[in-house]
Amino acid sequence: WSTSARVRPGLAVVIAAAALLIGCSATDQGGDFRPGALDVGDPYVPGAGNGGYDVEHYRLAVDYDPASDRLLGQAAVTAVATQPLSRFNLDLQGLEVTAVGVDGDRARHRHDGDELVVTPARGLAEGSRFTVAVEYAGRPGTRPNGPLGGGGFLHTEDGAIALGQPYSAAAWFPVNDHPSDKATYDIEVTVPAGLAALSNGVPGERSSAGGRTTWRWAQRAPMASYLTTLVIGAYRVEIGTHAGKPIVTAVPEQLSESSPEAVSLARTGEIADFLAEHFGPYPFDSYGGVAVVDPRVGYALETQSRPVYGPGFFRSGRPNFGVVVHELAHQWFGDSVAVTRWRDIWLNEGFATYAEWLWEEHQGGRSVQRIFEDQYAVTDWSLPTLDPGPDQMFGTAVYQRGALTVHALRRTVGDDAFFAILRAWTAERRDGNGTTDDFIELAERVGGEQLDGLFGAWLSGTTRPVIPE
Ligand code: ARG
Ligand code: ZN
Repeated sequence: WSTSARVRPGLAVVIAAAALLIGCSATDQGGDFRPGALDVGDPYVPGAGNGGYDVEHYRLAVDYDPASDRLLGQAAVTAVATQPLSRFNLDLQGLEVTAVGVDGDRARHRHDGDELVVTPARGLAEGSRFTVAVEYAGRPGTRPNGPLGGGGFLHTEDGAIALGQPYSAAAWFPVNDHPSDKATYDIEVTVPAGLAALSNGVPGERSSAGGRTTWRWAQRAPMASYLTTLVIGAYRVEIGTHAGKPIVTAVPEQLSESSPEAVSLARTGEIADFLAEHFGPYPFDSYGGVAVVDPRVGYALETQSRPVYGPGFFRSGRPNFGVVVHELAHQWFGDSVAVTRWRDIWLNEGFATYAEWLWEEHQGGRSVQRIFEDQYAVTDWSLPTLDPGPDQMFGTAVYQRGALTVHALRRTVGDDAFFAILRAWTAERRDGNGTTDDFIELAERVGGEQLDGLFGAWLSGTTRPVIPE
């Protein structure tokens, strides 16, 4: 310690104190460090996601007590700065944040609505990797999820269900909550012994202590945050192996082995294999599905490697393999290849619906061509498939007209080129993202012909398009 070195820390304290007084941190003073953007700028989900960094990995440890509906969470978020950062946001809805650290140093934080604002002690250089540790607690909330209804963190009779589209994750962990920023996950969930705690990916070691059990899950393929799920409660969990990978299915204990839910989910592996014949290799290192009975889940969702199925699909009392086909098709279209912006959601739903058509034909029902003709006859062409608007994200123009577009492509380029296009898309964009323009460009390259007129008419035209050839 020289005399001059002793002066410097003193000076730093004075500068920091002055910065606090005028309401900004020392890192705002010098260099070109600047705050990350408050959202990613997707007009379908204002406020969702953040700018200035790209998350690589989430390590989550949550402890949930269904009796009190209290969650205790620890998140370690590893990210790379994509600009010089003075501060940045994470999305976190409600919950009380008790401590935030960046690379082991305490960071200042402010929780403003659904935004957690983190100011690290020092600016973060562009390109640098950093880890944000967040400790938080509270009663997680639901998220409205627009037209989809019930989502976020749903406290159920015996536990909880976290899921939702276009977002849900911010209800239970701090996150860059937009599909344009995919990341890998390690998730560990502690619940009262006797309850199951299901999530995405490969099951890890389970351990129990003091009347509580910790379940561990690893998702090694990058995952969009809305594809995370947590299902806690009294479930019959079956862990097996399919095609050399773990397969985890779960149905509520109150449902029997012969319930339509159990019978439908039991064909998960077989249906994934059927789809792989058309779409290319199954993209993840585990399989599965979870059926839930909470009526607020009025939908099924393609949560990565382990879709969640709401009760509505099984109300007839008969198995529903179509919905399993649909959600498993999303593992290729939507999950492995995710949207970059929600305006392109037909890239998910059009293909998942088309997969249902392939299955119906395979089961000896109507041919794909016949389904196409039936659907073509009843379609309202005034509603666009591409960029349908946030209220119509889950509308028939996205699902049915989207599937019509897929079949119009097939009729234009022929079967061989069509399936080559699908397989090139899932292979080239695996673990990534894509836009409609990316898809058209790939289809033209692999199909060997110009297709902008075709896609323009089928995706965006407002009059009935002519059926190709
Ligand atoms: N991505 C989900 C699926 O299609 C969304 C479900 C939307 N359902 C609805 N009724 N709007 O599998
Ligand atoms: Zn779907």
